[in-house]
Amino acid sequence: MADFLSNYSIQKWLESCPQGYLEDTVYGRGADEIEPADLLQNEDYREAQIRTTVQLIVGERCALAASSGLINAAPDPASKTFLATQTLDEGRHVEVFTQRLYDLGVKPVDLESTIATYVNPHLGKFAEVLLEKVDKKDFVAGVVGQNIVLEGMAFSVFEMLHAGAQANNPKFAHTLSGTIADERRHVGFGENRIGELIRRYPEKKPEVERMQRDMTKHMLATFHVAFAQGGAPGEATRTSATRKGPAPTYQGLNMAEASNEEMEGALSATVLKEFKTRLGRIGLEYQSPA
Ligand SMILES: [Fe+2]
Ligand SMILES: [Fe+2]
Repeated sequence: MADFLSNYSIQKWLESCPQGYLEDTVYGRGADEIEPADLLQNEDYREAQIRTTVQLIVGERCALAASSGLINAAPDPASKTFLATQTLDEGRHVEVFTQRLYDLGVKPVDLESTIATYVNPHLGKFAEVLLEKVDKKDFVAGVVGQNIVLEGMAFSVFEMLHAGAQANNPKFAHTLSGTIADERRHVGFGENRIGELIRRYPEKKPEVERMQRDMTKHMLATFHVAFAQGGAPGEATRTSATRKGPAPTYQGLNMAEASNEEMEGALSATVLKEFKTRLGRIGLEYQSPA
């Protein structure tokens, strides 16, 4: 427990995050980094990036609601403290991705209507399943849903976007790398804290596994719609004229040449593999959606 306390303390968070990898960043990127000119001038490319960024904002708003809601459900002070730091991280993620929408030309007055226009309906259902557990102050289900399922998904999506952005959008890649570092910490907390609680309350298993199955179903539907709409990073990579050097790769796929179906398959396989590993570590068995 002593290790747990120091690893997830506010002091540790201050040293590693605001005073560490986020030092000198402005909205998560370098002060002089901007969106590439070819992106801003190509209407299809710009719209695809707006659509992708909207999904990130919706996912992060869900994480903000979940992490803040779980503070009062947490059974011990160390978990409350960690969730307080996570709440600030998630609020920051909402802010940096919202700022990116503005950088892509969305006017602040049009923020909510832009989100309503582009949000993937399956992502809304995914969030609903989790927030229902949070509203019931169900800490075990809430942490599995948030810190294993939602953040396991977010982590893999960010890594895929990062692989694409590194080649053609250093500004977005920079924003993503700080976010990925935060998510790594959040996923670690989920695994470290919840394994012990699952062992203590084995009767919770079926309900938590049902939630994981439902969230997984909505997640895979989200991916399917997102890639069918062509908002995939591979598309952005193909249309980017400013890319220098070789095409980026993701899970062995050449992102400039892979089809949207191939990218969807690679992302889904990566996330599901992560779920199986992480759920196994906390004593739960991955449930495949029908
Ligand atoms: Fe987040
Ligand atoms: Fe997170």
